[in-house]
Amino acid sequence: MKIKKNKNLSLSTRAIHGKHLHPFKGPVTLPIYQTSTYRFENSNDAIRYSEGDPNVLVYTRYHNPSVNEVEDRITLMENGEASALFSSGMAAISTAILSICKSGDEIVSTPALYGGTYRFFRDTLPNYNIPVKYVDPESLEDIVYLINPKTKVVYFETPTNPTLSLVDIEKLVRLTRKMEKEFKNKINIIIDNTFATILNQKPFDSDVDVIVESSTKYLGGHADLMGGVVIGTKKFIKSLKELAKHLGGCADPFAAFLLDRSLKTFELRVQRQNENALALASALEKHPKVLRVIYPGLPSHPQHKLAKKQMTGFGGMVTIEVKGGVKGAEKICDSLKVAINAMSLGGVETLVSIPVYSSHVKMSNEELKKHGVTQGMIRISVGVEGIKDLIEDFKQAIGKL
Ligand SMILES: Cc1ncc(COP(=O)(O)O)c(C=O)c1O
Repeated sequence: MKIKKNKNLSLSTRAIHGKHLHPFKGPVTLPIYQTSTYRFENSNDAIRYSEGDPNVLVYTRYHNPSVNEVEDRITLMENGEASALFSSGMAAISTAILSICKSGDEIVSTPALYGGTYRFFRDTLPNYNIPVKYVDPESLEDIVYLINPKTKVVYFETPTNPTLSLVDIEKLVRLTRKMEKEFKNKINIIIDNTFATILNQKPFDSDVDVIVESSTKYLGGHADLMGGVVIGTKKFIKSLKELAKHLGGCADPFAAFLLDRSLKTFELRVQRQNENALALASALEKHPKVLRVIYPGLPSHPQHKLAKKQMTGFGGMVTIEVKGGVKGAEKICDSLKVAINAMSLGGVETLVSIPVYSSHVKMSNEELKKHGVTQGMIRISVGVEGIKDLIEDFKQAIGKL
């Protein structure tokens, strides 16, 4: 996608002020338009709406000023053309996919996905005759054998959940565009950028078409809201919003308000999470009861070179594999005093979860192997607490093994 660059203002300035860089009368914070419907001045408004005038507000499932303001803010932050906010990340992802694919179309994806997305691909899309084929990120060249004239979407996550392995964005895009040319068939390249966030990874700079994100995570950042966002061209978001009206996963105005509050500190929070994650990962790497620390920012990460090429920071997610398998992982999670044993990620508080009980539950051993998930893994979403406290906390918990 060719995006007009908005590089003259910093990320935080765009996040805090949106389009309102000049003083105007009104509240400093975003008002919550907590309404399902809108008063018409007179029936002319209803007539204008019936004639397709997009400026007439009619119903919050279609549009809402609080939601629309946050969409504009995110568009500016991510250097897209337009955005659509949803009630959850899964609503954003499923609506984005279904707005592109119809029965008979195909998707090519990388296999290590957020569990919910993987299950949507595995259990739901085949019922609509939309098969998903998987390409191993270590043999990305094989994508040329998987793409055919029916392929409408190439979908991927990087870093992946929870193994934090990377997909080479530049290579994936290059190979996909080559096949697109060969078959004269538009392929939408979609990235789930939830883990890296726009602070650490800028997919539109690499000609990715669409970014999807669970705004429940780093964009929200306080473990108090559910949301999802899709960012793309104006044309794409317009057609996506038409389908969103039917599927109904619209964002709630109060969630939009909370998200607006969160965006203002997004850069500060994620910068600190980057720093804390690197420090914690480095400390845990030295621990004798930790078998493996996976963090793209560590030189020991097998794709550290690629991480440095395509990321400007390495994110707040760290995965460790501990001695004692799943029982060892349970023992540590139950012994932590600062970090919280809870699912989800991206918030200011450090959370730990055991992938075989959370994101990768109900997967066969074969699927777990394919995803690189082992029994003794703990996924850490590093928060913004004092780093000394975090390191001490993990040391004392691992010491209980
Ligand atoms: C990478 C990723 N994408 C998407 C989702 C789905 O987001 P939500 O839970 O907001 O529906 C998650 C949730 O954990 C996730 O980790």
